Amino acid sequence: MSPNSKGEAPLRSDHDIVLARQQVRRLTQELKFSLVDQTKMVTAASELARNALIYGGGGTMEWEIVSVDGRRGLKLRFSDEGPGIPNLELAMTDGWTSGNGLGMGLTGTKRLVNEFDIDTKVGAGTRVTIARWI
Ligand SMILES: Nc1ncnc2c1ncn2[C@@H]1O[C@H](COP(=O)(O)OP(=O)(O)OP(=O)(O)O)[C@@H](O)[C@H]1O
Ligand SMILES: [Mg+2]
Repeated sequence: MSPNSKGEAPLRSDHDIVLARQQVRRLTQELKFSLVDQTKMVTAASELARNALIYGGGGTMEWEIVSVDGRRGLKLRFSDEGPGIPNLELAMTDGWTSGNGLGMGLTGTKRLVNEFDIDTKVGAGTRVTIARWI
Protein backbone atom coordinates (compact mmCIF):
# COMPACT_ATOMS: atom_id res chain seq x y z
CA MET A 1 0.00 0.00 0.00
CA SER A 2 1.46 3.38 -0.91
CA PRO A 3 2.16 5.60 2.12
CA ASN A 4 -0.43 8.19 1.18
CA SER A 5 -3.25 6.07 -0.11
CA LYS A 6 -6.69 7.49 0.54
CA GLY A 7 -10.33 7.12 -0.32
CA GLU A 8 -13.90 8.01 0.50
CA ALA A 9 -17.07 6.13 1.39
CA PRO A 10 -20.68 7.31 1.62
CA LEU A 11 -22.65 7.19 4.89
CA ARG A 12 -26.25 7.15 3.77
CA SER A 13 -27.65 3.96 5.31
CA ASP A 14 -27.07 1.34 7.99
CA HIS A 15 -25.50 -0.82 5.31
CA ASP A 16 -23.00 1.95 4.47
CA ILE A 17 -21.98 1.94 8.14
CA VAL A 18 -21.30 -1.79 7.94
CA LEU A 19 -19.17 -1.21 4.83
CA ALA A 20 -17.32 1.69 6.49
CA ARG A 21 -16.55 -0.50 9.51
CA GLN A 22 -15.23 -3.25 7.22
CA GLN A 23 -13.08 -0.75 5.35
CA VAL A 24 -11.55 0.56 8.61
CA ARG A 25 -10.92 -3.00 9.80
CA ARG A 26 -9.15 -3.77 6.50
CA LEU A 27 -7.03 -0.61 6.62
CA THR A 28 -5.94 -1.19 10.21
CA GLN A 29 -5.04 -4.78 9.35
CA GLU A 30 -2.95 -3.61 6.39
CA LEU A 31 -1.22 -1.15 8.76
CA LYS A 32 -0.56 -4.06 11.13
CA PHE A 33 -2.41 -2.54 14.08
CA SER A 34 -2.78 -4.96 16.99
CA LEU A 35 -6.19 -6.64 17.23
CA VAL A 36 -7.11 -4.39 20.18
CA ASP A 37 -6.09 -1.25 18.29
CA GLN A 38 -7.97 -2.39 15.18
CA THR A 39 -11.11 -2.71 17.28
CA LYS A 40 -10.57 0.71 18.88
CA MET A 41 -10.44 2.35 15.46
CA VAL A 42 -13.40 0.35 14.13
CA THR A 43 -15.46 1.26 17.20
CA ALA A 44 -14.55 4.95 16.88
CA ALA A 45 -15.45 4.91 13.17
CA SER A 46 -18.73 3.20 13.92
CA GLU A 47 -19.75 5.85 16.48
CA LEU A 48 -18.86 8.78 14.23
CA ALA A 49 -20.50 7.20 11.19
CA ARG A 50 -23.66 6.64 13.21
CA ASN A 51 -23.68 10.26 14.38
CA ALA A 52 -23.23 11.49 10.79
CA LEU A 53 -26.15 9.34 9.70
CA ILE A 54 -28.54 9.96 12.63
CA TYR A 55 -27.86 13.62 13.41
CA GLY A 56 -26.22 14.80 10.21
CA GLY A 57 -28.69 13.20 7.83
CA GLY A 58 -25.89 11.25 6.16
CA GLY A 59 -22.43 12.17 5.02
CA THR A 60 -19.10 10.71 4.03
CA MET A 61 -16.09 9.02 5.58
CA GLU A 62 -12.74 9.95 4.10
CA TRP A 63 -9.75 7.81 5.02
CA GLU A 64 -6.07 8.33 4.56
CA ILE A 65 -2.94 6.39 5.43
CA VAL A 66 -0.65 9.01 6.89
CA SER A 67 3.05 9.00 7.61
CA VAL A 68 4.67 11.54 9.91
CA ASP A 69 8.33 11.29 10.90
CA GLY A 70 8.38 7.70 9.69
CA ARG A 71 5.40 6.80 11.83
CA ARG A 72 2.35 5.49 10.04
CA GLY A 73 -1.25 5.81 11.01
CA LEU A 74 -4.82 5.99 9.85
CA LYS A 75 -6.69 9.26 9.62
CA LEU A 76 -10.48 9.29 9.26
CA ARG A 77 -12.75 12.24 8.62
CA PHE A 78 -16.53 12.12 9.00
CA SER A 79 -18.35 14.97 7.32
CA ASP A 80 -22.00 15.88 7.07
CA GLU A 81 -23.99 18.91 6.06
CA GLY A 82 -26.54 18.54 8.85
CA PRO A 83 -27.63 21.00 11.55
CA GLY A 84 -24.26 21.20 13.32
CA ILE A 85 -23.74 21.00 17.10
CA PRO A 86 -24.98 24.16 18.90
CA ASN A 87 -23.19 23.45 22.19
CA LEU A 88 -20.05 21.47 21.60
CA GLU A 89 -18.97 21.56 25.25
CA LEU A 90 -22.25 19.92 26.24
CA ALA A 91 -22.03 17.40 23.40
CA MET A 92 -18.55 16.46 24.64
CA THR A 93 -19.92 15.60 28.11
CA ASP A 94 -20.23 11.94 29.12
CA GLY A 95 -23.87 10.93 29.07
CA TRP A 96 -25.31 13.97 27.30
CA THR A 97 -27.57 13.16 24.37
CA SER A 98 -30.05 15.25 22.42
CA GLY A 99 -31.73 12.06 21.25
CA ASN A 100 -32.13 8.55 22.56
CA GLY A 101 -28.47 7.62 22.70
CA LEU A 102 -26.24 7.00 25.67
CA GLY A 103 -24.34 10.21 25.04
CA MET A 104 -21.08 8.29 25.01
CA GLY A 105 -20.24 8.30 21.30
CA LEU A 106 -18.08 11.41 21.08
CA THR A 107 -16.42 11.16 24.48
CA GLY A 108 -15.82 7.42 24.03
CA THR A 109 -14.35 7.97 20.58
CA LYS A 110 -11.98 10.63 21.88
CA ARG A 111 -10.54 8.14 24.35
CA LEU A 112 -10.01 5.50 21.66
CA VAL A 113 -7.83 7.55 19.33
CA ASN A 114 -4.62 9.63 19.43
CA GLU A 115 -6.03 12.67 17.64
CA PHE A 116 -9.55 14.03 17.77
CA ASP A 117 -10.85 17.25 16.27
CA ILE A 118 -14.38 18.56 15.72
CA ASP A 119 -15.25 21.37 13.38
CA THR A 120 -18.95 22.17 13.53
CA LYS A 121 -21.11 25.09 12.49
CA VAL A 122 -24.81 25.50 13.20
CA GLY A 123 -26.76 25.22 9.98
CA ALA A 124 -23.73 24.12 7.99
CA GLY A 125 -22.59 20.75 9.26
CA THR A 126 -20.06 18.82 11.25
CA ARG A 127 -16.64 17.42 10.49
CA VAL A 128 -14.89 15.10 12.93
CA THR A 129 -11.31 14.08 12.24
CA ILE A 130 -9.56 11.31 14.14
CA ALA A 131 -6.23 9.57 13.82
CA ARG A 132 -4.47 6.67 15.42
CA TRP A 133 -0.81 5.82 15.01
CA ILE A 134 0.72 2.40 14.87
N1 LIG B 1 -22.79 14.84 13.28
C1 LIG B 1 -23.56 15.46 14.17
N2 LIG B 1 -24.41 16.44 13.81
C2 LIG B 1 -25.19 17.08 14.73
N3 LIG B 1 -25.20 16.77 16.05
C3 LIG B 1 -24.36 15.80 16.47
C4 LIG B 1 -23.51 15.09 15.57
N4 LIG B 1 -22.79 14.20 16.30
C5 LIG B 1 -23.18 14.34 17.55
N5 LIG B 1 -24.13 15.28 17.68
C6 LIG B 1 -24.78 15.76 18.94
O1 LIG B 1 -23.94 15.44 20.02
C7 LIG B 1 -24.64 14.64 20.96
C8 LIG B 1 -23.67 13.67 21.60
O2 LIG B 1 -23.23 12.72 20.63
P1 LIG B 1 -22.72 11.29 21.12
O3 LIG B 1 -22.35 10.47 19.95
O4 LIG B 1 -21.70 11.52 22.18
O5 LIG B 1 -24.00 10.69 21.87
P2 LIG B 1 -25.33 10.10 21.23
O6 LIG B 1 -25.17 9.88 19.76
O7 LIG B 1 -26.45 10.99 21.66
O8 LIG B 1 -25.44 8.71 21.98
P3 LIG B 1 -24.53 7.39 21.71
O9 LIG B 1 -23.55 7.73 20.63
O10 LIG B 1 -23.87 7.10 23.01
O11 LIG B 1 -25.52 6.37 21.30
C9 LIG B 1 -25.76 13.99 20.17
O12 LIG B 1 -26.83 13.62 21.00
C10 LIG B 1 -26.11 15.09 19.18
O13 LIG B 1 -26.95 16.05 19.78
MG1 LIG C 1 -23.49 8.91 18.98
